[in-house]
Amino acid sequence: MNTLIGTDISAAGQFLEAGHPIGIPTETVYGLAANALSPAAVARIFEVKNRPTFDPLIVHVSDAVAAQKYALHWPDTARRLAEAFWPGPLTLLLEKREIVPDLVTAGLPRVGLRVPSHPLTLQLLQTLSFPLAAPSANPFGYISPTTAQHVFDQLQSLIPYILDGGPCRVGVESTIIGFEDGKTVVYRLGGLSMEQLEQVAGPLTLQLHQSSNPAAPGMLTTHYAPRKPLYLGSIDELQERFPKLRAGLLTLRPLHHKPAGALCISLSSAGDLNEAAQNLFAAMRLLDQSDVDVIFAEPMPETGLGRAINDRLKRAAV
Ligand code: TXA
Ligand code: MG
Repeated sequence: MNTLIGTDISAAGQFLEAGHPIGIPTETVYGLAANALSPAAVARIFEVKNRPTFDPLIVHVSDAVAAQKYALHWPDTARRLAEAFWPGPLTLLLEKREIVPDLVTAGLPRVGLRVPSHPLTLQLLQTLSFPLAAPSANPFGYISPTTAQHVFDQLQSLIPYILDGGPCRVGVESTIIGFEDGKTVVYRLGGLSMEQLEQVAGPLTLQLHQSSNPAAPGMLTTHYAPRKPLYLGSIDELQERFPKLRAGLLTLRPLHHKPAGALCISLSSAGDLNEAAQNLFAAMRLLDQSDVDVIFAEPMPETGLGRAINDRLKRAAV
């Protein structure tokens, strides 16, 4: 299959109507999207991504009104969060309606709903008569794509079209929220910070989501992972521990003393964690494709998007 990259929304819509998965831009990462109401189209997503079908998919809709077609009950906090943060990097897990195929939710009782904030994808969603199921557009277990080129590099010939919306503005996946026994639960740290969420939802309970949880066997080592070993810790200590390896260094601010022979990438010269999140996955890909033996990454401050970045680095680490 010849994979085209472009900005043609009607071409994108035609491929989707024909049951093909395509690449779509969102503000977080690129998605691999297909008709969420067609089990056959959804099955193609799992095939292309090589993803186990027990890992459910997020359903993307054009607005909160459309979202009501797919979820039964809306706790008050869910309504307020949707109002405050949609379109945006927030996924709400809500009791699904019958119309959502079991393949989308992996047989689970809740569906993940999100209104993405990217003008091209919002326009696309408005022209379609169905919502879009979309996981991140990477092969299962690899780093999420934040440009159309990243998607092309890995999925070319498997999908007919990639809608090119430029580099992703947020750079890490959406924050996933659900509601249990009156509590607001965070299942995945992401592009919407805990601080922002707390302002609208009040106190939060943190409970790492099952399929990305270290407690789930085999999941941790394969999630968000580059192919080269990545160690998370103090760069100085790691270099002392592995003096013979040629290292790629991933830091927040530029290093004062660049070690000889090392390839250094700073995520934000100003130390801005939003900018760091934006650059994170592209930097991990770059180091993975370079000739270094190993990647050393330093942890970010645990505030704002620093938490989500640290979460991704931990999952990528050996
Ligand atoms: O920012 C994002 O969320 C991106 C863009 C494309 O929207 N999507 C994304 O999808 O990151 P994915 O499939 O790579 O990660 C979604 C996570 C999965 O780990 C899945 O287990 C969880 O959301 N999830 C989705 N639906 C769920 C459900 N019904 N119940 C529990 N967990 C769910
Ligand atoms: Mg993913």
